[in-house]
Amino acid sequence: MTDARRERGALYGRRKGKKLRAGQAERLEALLPRLRLDLAAPVPADLRNLFAAPVSDVRMEIGFGGGEHMLHEAGANAGTGFIGVEPFLNGMAKALAGIDENGLSNVRLYDNDAAHVLDWLPEASLARIDLLYPDPWPKTRQFKRRFVSDENLKKIVRALKAGGEFRFASDIASYVEWTLAHVRRQPRLVWTAERADDWRNPWTGWPGTRYEAKAIREKRAPAYLIFRRA
Ligand SMILES: C[S@@+](CC[C@H](N)C(=O)[O-])C[C@H]1O[C@@H](n2cnc3c(N)ncnc32)[C@H](O)[C@@H]1O
Repeated sequence: MTDARRERGALYGRRKGKKLRAGQAERLEALLPRLRLDLAAPVPADLRNLFAAPVSDVRMEIGFGGGEHMLHEAGANAGTGFIGVEPFLNGMAKALAGIDENGLSNVRLYDNDAAHVLDWLPEASLARIDLLYPDPWPKTRQFKRRFVSDENLKKIVRALKAGGEFRFASDIASYVEWTLAHVRRQPRLVWTAERADDWRNPWTGWPGTRYEAKAIREKRAPAYLIFRRA
């Protein structure tokens, strides 16, 4: 996707699924505006001030789906702020329910293209960015729709602190190869794997995601890649 296309708010993939239940629609109306990042506002000098809870670091999850992984991580790391991005409204509604029910005050949200947030963030402001089971766009003519692109990796490198991590998981072999090839063109992103088990096995504390469970059910082997920003 070109910058011009992203700026017009174009997104591949769906924004809406089945009709929301009344409670979900209410949360979208009442809670999302309180937690949604306002990208028209100036970015805070200190990103940690975005959160109601005191946090020492800020992470971002791109395309959190139903929010299972993000909610787990936010619950397990109360001293870290999480920016969760998901344009699919039904997923957002699910995540809002989890945030509400668990009383999480270390999560902020954005319901459109994560590239917008990456552009808005101050340079070197994030400790970690997760991109877990991104939409695969498996056909060659669809590859250009993939979230991983030279353009987006540059945005990721800019937003990460030195020593910060970009974590990527996918069960689509061509997307894993695609990501490794694109990262090789970013001299400031270094793949940390030293042995096959480092990418064959999920990282410590990994709670799983819905798409991972589907991949395993369908007998596809996922890969878990950790890149460090030099
Ligand atoms: C295959 S799902 C994976 C969801 C979740 N990470 C999981 O593993 O269960 C990919 C998600 O990325 C979201 N997505 C697609 N393009 C995006 C973009 N440009 N910015 C943020 N999220 C995006 C989709 O709406 C979808 O929910």
